[in-house]
Amino acid sequence: MKNFLNVHDVEDIHALVDGALLCKQNPRADHELGKGKTLGLIFMNPSLRTRLSTQKAGRNLGMDVMVMNFSGEGWALETEEGVIMNGDKAEHIKEAAAVIGAYCDIIGLRSFPSLKDRKSDYTDHVINEFVRYAGVPIVNLESATVHPCQSLADVLTIEETKEAGKPKVVLTWVPHPRPLPQSVGNSFAEWINRAGYEFVIANPEGYDLSGDFTGNAAVVHEPEEAYAGADYIYAKNWSSYEQYGQVLSQDEKWMVDERKMNLTNNAKFMHCLPVRRNVVVSDAVIDSENSVVIREAANREFAAQAVLKQILSHG
Ligand code: CP
Repeated sequence: MKNFLNVHDVEDIHALVDGALLCKQNPRADHELGKGKTLGLIFMNPSLRTRLSTQKAGRNLGMDVMVMNFSGEGWALETEEGVIMNGDKAEHIKEAAAVIGAYCDIIGLRSFPSLKDRKSDYTDHVINEFVRYAGVPIVNLESATVHPCQSLADVLTIEETKEAGKPKVVLTWVPHPRPLPQSVGNSFAEWINRAGYEFVIANPEGYDLSGDFTGNAAVVHEPEEAYAGADYIYAKNWSSYEQYGQVLSQDEKWMVDERKMNLTNNAKFMHCLPVRRNVVVSDAVIDSENSVVIREAANREFAAQAVLKQILSHG
């Protein structure tokens, strides 16, 4: 693997999940692999889990790790070509990416979408410019369109906890007061399709994700229809893709609660976190023994480690 930008960079996702499970069994087994190598983690947006789990993963492999909060600490970045830079943006992404690449052997990058211009956001311009100019492998720590490190941890969590060979997995839209990216939903859809599980997406009208990511997944517009017989309920809010970036609904009937969980096959509850309690999911569900959100977050370390290990081994 040269870069880890999305599911298409992975030849065999089950082999990568197995790799993550091996890392989990003995996290320090490969601590010589990254010796003398530097991992740079660049955050254009906030993070708790991605920041800490990827640092830990790099250190488990013996890497030196540098973290930079770009939005607060870096120069304001110009990302467009040919601009006369006489405004408030002091540095072009061409130089910034190349300079960071000169200090690092691998770069992890988080860069959220604007949620204003769909066409521009869906080119994933910022991460692709890093690929173009940094000259070292790039790991996607959540871009405008996908969050593959999260999705790998999600599949790992399902593989560890599933009771059926081919579980029924439901991705359900949930309410949220603010417009959020589609990236986690897009990515989860791509990875669950590749994993070969039974897969249903439930969201209100106006919230269908792009077919480029959902593929052949069934899409329903009533939550109860999806919950029936489910083995996993994966909750995530996203703003509208169709009416791009807008919050069209905050209908409480979509919140994950005990009544709907009782329709399932004793389903596990999943969410990538952070989560707004009693908006997205009731306390009773997230605090129940069927909630695997902490395991899912813990698995971020081993997912990141498996990815870094493959890149280091390739190099
Ligand atoms: N799930 C996730 O990516 O969490 P952070 O935004 O806190 O990194």
